[in-house]
Order: sequence, then structure tokens, then C-alpha cells
Amino acid sequence: GWPQVEAFQARADDLLVATYPKSGTTWLSEILDMIYHDGDVEKCRRDAIFNRVPFLEMKAQGVLSGVELLEKTPSPRLVKTHLPVQLLPTSFRDKNCKVIYMARNPKDVVISYYYFYQMAKIHPDPGTLGEFLEAFMAGKVAYGSWYEHVRGWWEKKQEKQLLYLFYEDMKKDPQQEVQKILRFLGKEAPEGMVERILHHTSFQEMKKNPAANYETMPTALMDHSLSPFLRKGISGDWKNHFTVAQNERFDQHYWEHMAGSDLCFQME
Ligand code: A3P
Repeated sequence: GWPQVEAFQARADDLLVATYPKSGTTWLSEILDMIYHDGDVEKCRRDAIFNRVPFLEMKAQGVLSGVELLEKTPSPRLVKTHLPVQLLPTSFRDKNCKVIYMARNPKDVVISYYYFYQMAKIHPDPGTLGEFLEAFMAGKVAYGSWYEHVRGWWEKKQEKQLLYLFYEDMKKDPQQEVQKILRFLGKEAPEGMVERILHHTSFQEMKKNPAANYETMPTALMDHSLSPFLRKGISGDWKNHFTVAQNERFDQHYWEHMAGSDLCFQME
């Protein structure tokens, strides 16, 4: 489906939600849909998150592709992508669309991704965690190198139309981050709206919300009995998985690949 993605016609009022997989895309998407619907919880239950915020480059048999779904979606649209910045269809830049990028520390990303590989059947068997860590560090996983992804988008952050957020900040102070998003979008929040957004998009609420937790995806595509899509939703879960040796190796690789960048991650 790449030719259709590359030729995708963005609209000036599209808002792009860009992330490396497992960095809080669904969380950010739910927050944005709430903002777009003035904090109306019922409106945000109208459909599954993957239909409310279509996934640009998704193409699977028997369902509309992301591009087809987006063509049917009325403006203003929220558009999800995991594409690295250099592969973004040019129409987003031509139309000067706003972008919100969310990044998460790589140790938690790789653990979340390891479980996701097991439950989302589009992926090959990830092997052992040790094998998956090596594949991740080498960029041999879906969407390639995490380092290139976060750094590529970070280099665009001087552009006024890009807001760069961190999963760890959102965990620590969601109210502050939601206010940041509102300012970026130039939106006023009516009385009580931020509180409603924070409640509705908390991990506990989203986990039990069929419109947000991916449970309505066919089991052949996602098997939640292997690992739920909303798994733990915390920072620092990597400590329950990495051995001391794996952590040392990962740290060394991290510093080599982040050298020269002012981009910093909170690992816990
Ligand atoms: P874990 O596997 O660490 O639990 P994405 O949407 O980009 O695929 O990211 C999925 C990760 O975000 C999962 O991480 C998921 O639990 C977490 N997540 C989803 N909603 C969340 C929320 N409301 N609060 C905190 N984490 C959330």
C-alpha cells in the first residue's frame, strides 16, 4: 500500500499523532479525541480508537486501509502514524499540518513491544527477550531504529507546528501535559473539561473501555489472552525484565547512539 500512503493528501486542518510504536499513541489519541469533542465522554465512545484516529499506513486484508478510512473521515481529522520523519508523505509539510510527537524511554518501549509482538499476530515470533533486545538495538523490528525515529523527529521540533511530548512527563503530570496540548492547539477548555479528560484517559478507565482497549479487534489479529493491549501503563517496568548484563549492554548501546544529541530520556 506504500504508493497510496506516499500520495496521501493531507488537509490543512489535519492533526498528525506521530510515535514510535508502544510510546503511548493510544493514550495520546484518546486525549486528543476528548479535546476535539469538548470532553464529551459519550461522543468518544462512538467507535473504536482505531476508527476514530485512523492509522495512516495500516493495510490488512478484509478491512479498509488507513488511507481509505481517512478519505471517508470528515475534517478536522486526527491521523495516527508510526512513520519515521523522513518517510512522512510530503503533503503534511505542504499543508503545514500540526504534529504531536510522543516519545517514551527505549527500555520500556522494548518491553512493551516484546509483549505486543506476541499478542498482535501481524508480527513474527519475537523469540526470547534476549533475542528481541538484540533485534531492537539493531533496528531490526517493525519501524526500524528507535534511535533514528526519536532523533529524526526531535530535529524537527524547532518547527513551530510540532509539539514533542514524553510518555514519562504525561505519567508524572498529565494535567500539565494536557494544558500544553491545549495551548498548542489554541483551544480554550471549558470548566471541568480537563478533569473529565484526565479521568476518562486514565489507565484504569481506558483499560475497561472497549472503544479504547482494542478488544473489538478480531482475535486473529490481536490475542488479548496472551497480553492485553493496555498491559501495565507504568514507567520503569523494564526493571522487572532486564538482567544486570542486559541493562549494561543496553546502556552502552544507548549512549553510543544518542551521542551528540540534547534529547534526554527518563528511564524510571
Ligand atoms: P505497556 O505495554 O508498558 O503497558 P501504543 O498505544 O503506542 O501502542 O502504546 C501502548 C503502551 O501505552 C502500553 O504500555 C499501554 O499500556 C500504554 N498506555 C495506553 N494507555 C495508557 C494510559 N491511559 N496511561 C498509561 N499508559 C497507557
